[in-house]
Amino acid sequence: MSQIIALTNQKGGVGKSTSAVNLAASLAALDRRILLVDLDPQGHASMGSGIDKYALEKSVLDVLLGETSASDAIVRGLPVNYDVLPGNGDLTAAEVELLDSDQRQSRLSLALQTVADDYDVVLIDCPPSLNMLTVNALTAANGVLIPLQCEFYALEGLSALLDTVEQIKQSINPDLAVSGILRTMYDKRTSLTREVDKQLRDFFGDALLKTTIPRNVKVAEAPSHGLPVTQYARFSRGSQAYRVLAKEMIRRLSL
Ligand SMILES: Nc1ncnc2c1ncn2[C@@H]1O[C@H](COP(=O)(O)OP(=O)(O)OP(=O)(O)O)[C@@H](O)[C@H]1O
Ligand SMILES: [Mg+2]
Repeated sequence: MSQIIALTNQKGGVGKSTSAVNLAASLAALDRRILLVDLDPQGHASMGSGIDKYALEKSVLDVLLGETSASDAIVRGLPVNYDVLPGNGDLTAAEVELLDSDQRQSRLSLALQTVADDYDVVLIDCPPSLNMLTVNALTAANGVLIPLQCEFYALEGLSALLDTVEQIKQSINPDLAVSGILRTMYDKRTSLTREVDKQLRDFFGDALLKTTIPRNVKVAEAPSHGLPVTQYARFSRGSQAYRVLAKEMIRRLSL
C-alpha cells in the first residue's frame, strides 16, 4: 500500500509543481516506485515531466469522471524515472462535471486505490485553490506537504488551508496529517526570511522541514526541457537540495 502525499497551497507560484516533479525524481532515484498525479488544469507537473499536455489521449479528468481507469490513463516509460497520471486544461470542467455526481470528493481516492500496489509513494500536485480538485487530493492523501516562500504574505491563507485539512480529516479522511512545511526559493541572508522562519517555527514546530530549497536558476530552467532538475543539472544546488529533501521525507514518513 502506497503513501499518498498532496502538495498543496492555494497561494500561487510557491513551488508546488516544481517540488512535486523534483521530489518525485529524487525519491525514484532512491529506488522508490513513484506515481505523480497532476491535478492542476495548468498541467505544469505533466509538462515538467516531459509530457505534451495538449496531446493527451486520456487524463486524470477522465479518471475522476469514471470514464477510464487510473491504470489506462497513467503514462509510463517516460525519460523521467517515475510514472505520471497527467492533467491539462480539461480539468477546469471538473468542478461543474462532478457537481451532481455521487462520491464527488472521493473520486481520486477510489481510483488511486486500484493502482496503490504498484507504487511506494503517490505525489499529487494541486491547483492554487481550495476547490473540488484539491478536496479530492486531500481525501485521497494521508499526508499534506505545504510548499511556501518565506515572504511577508507567506502565512496568509495558511489558516484557511489548515481548516480545510481539519474538516476533511474529521468528515471523510481520519488518516490525513500535515507531513511537512517546505521552504522554497529560500534565501537565508535576508532579515525578512529570518523573521518568517521564526514565525513558521513557532507556529508549526516539528512540521517545519529542515531542508530548504534555494532559489536556483537551473531549477527554473529544467521544466522547459521537460526534465526534473535532478536530471537536467544534477550537480546544481537546486538538484542537491531536492535529493536531501527526499532523504528527509523518507526518514520522517518511513517511505
Ligand atoms: N528553487 C527555485 N529556484 C528558482 N525558481 C524556482 C524555484 N522553485 C520554483 N521556481 C520558479 O517559480 C515559479 C513558480 O513555481 P511553481 O510553478 O513550482 O509554483 P506553483 O506553486 O506550482 O505555482 P501554481 O500555484 O501556479 O501552480 C516557476 O516559474 C518556477 O520555475
Ligand atoms: Mg503548480
